[in-house]
Amino acid sequence: MTTADGDGLLAALRGIVGQSHVLTGEDTTGYCADWTGRFGGPTRAVVRPADTAQVAAVLRTCNDAGVPVVPQGGNTGLVGGGVPRNGELVLSLRRLDTVGTIDPHTPSVTVGAGVTAATVQRVAAGHDLALGVDLAARDSATIGGMVATNAGGIHVVAHGSMRQQVLGVEAVLADGTVVRHMTGLAKDNAGPDLAQLLTGSEGILAVITAVILRLVPRPADTAVALIGCDDPTGALAVVAAVRRVRPLAVEVMRAAGIAMVAEHAGVPVPLAPLPAWLVLVEVEGGPTQLEEVVGDRPSAVAQDAADARRLWQLRERHTEAVNARGVPVKLDVTVPLDRLGAFVDRLDAIVPGAISFGHLAEGNLHVNLLGEEATAANEDAVLRLVAEHHGSIASEHGVGVAKVGHLHLTRSAGEVDALHRIRQAMDPAGILNPGVVLPVRRPDR
Ligand code: FAD
Ligand code: MLT
Ligand code: ZN
Repeated sequence: MTTADGDGLLAALRGIVGQSHVLTGEDTTGYCADWTGRFGGPTRAVVRPADTAQVAAVLRTCNDAGVPVVPQGGNTGLVGGGVPRNGELVLSLRRLDTVGTIDPHTPSVTVGAGVTAATVQRVAAGHDLALGVDLAARDSATIGGMVATNAGGIHVVAHGSMRQQVLGVEAVLADGTVVRHMTGLAKDNAGPDLAQLLTGSEGILAVITAVILRLVPRPADTAVALIGCDDPTGALAVVAAVRRVRPLAVEVMRAAGIAMVAEHAGVPVPLAPLPAWLVLVEVEGGPTQLEEVVGDRPSAVAQDAADARRLWQLRERHTEAVNARGVPVKLDVTVPLDRLGAFVDRLDAIVPGAISFGHLAEGNLHVNLLGEEATAANEDAVLRLVAEHHGSIASEHGVGVAKVGHLHLTRSAGEVDALHRIRQAMDPAGILNPGVVLPVRRPDR
């Protein structure tokens, strides 16, 4: 196969991964639309390699033929970076699902890119350990996708984002070259860190095939409470109080979002009347750890594991409840905590119907625009407001295709240019996720 001719390409790919792992036509449907239904398009084929050698051979073939490739893990991404738009080949990494033995000393574990977060949690739990990052998409989100997006989730306040969990990486460059730095050492400054370069690169620099993950101790006991507040200032007082104990999660919701989840999922709401702002906190230790955090605020403290699960459902089922109302415009922003109140006042004036929730300790709000408010003009106005408040327009989901047009709001022209140079150096033919984060610059276009 020497050209991008469809039949020749597919035959070559079948020769690498086997007949049944090159999907075409209707078999590709589940790979072609994102979780929200907002992004996606046709693909010429979905290719499902079994190991690193097959990933390398597939990429070498596509690179030689000039065929664009979209790496895909669990397809839970929310910014359209993991789905095809215009016929790109989908490279599904889900079959790279090997889990190595746990190193109890570091502690750490080596896993294939296609292993889900839930699988790592399950394996780690058997050793009283945990993956430091957790998120509601845990049953489908893969480690490769989570590293590629530098996923955050609910435990960042305790353990950081994926960036803090990655101790080593194996990846394949666009031309099929395999690069590995899998020592797993806690300290290793022998030159720039490849794993950190690839963390958050959203599939534009290389395809991640395996990762060494740091693991953290699994707390013996945790306590969970839902705490009501009048406004962002009140919610930030809870953050300050919870930082004095050992916080595992500090999540924020608003009355409209809680009411929406209760109606959609039938989860009971333990506070009446419903406060305007609600903070869900989880801390290490027993319920006494929460006494000073709760103070005299309206609250529901979980009495057992089932209670705790119900409180968490009110938070974690926001995403599906939003989806059930129609295709949302999802904004994922961070603002400095000392500007949160001022930001929210202006936000509410622009999009009073938005459903906002998120990870309060990091100032990370997920602002979901729905119905008549889900317009490009509102998206633009909110993201400009974020920039005005010195925040980030892409907090934890990444840029994907959704935020490409707004990247300049919070990254300087010099930075963007430097990042383009890195992309160009690692993928000269521009085949990896060409429309994502930094759309490939082609001199002849
Ligand atoms: P995909 O969606 O398949 O891909 C995401 C990006 O990574 C794409 O750009 C893709 O090209 C690239 N990619 C995937 N695999 C590889 C690889 N092996 N090598 C190179 N590039 C690759 N995100 C958070 O950060 N925090 C949350 O709390 C959170 N909660 C969520 C809750 C729900 C209900 C849902 C649906 C999503 C949530 N997300 C959250 C978003 C999503 O789960 C994360 O972005 C996750 O990291 C994506 O993993 P994935 O395997 O599904 O990646
Ligand atoms: C979450 O924290 O629940 C997510 O990042 C998903 C979302 O924004 O909907
Ligand atoms: Zn989130």
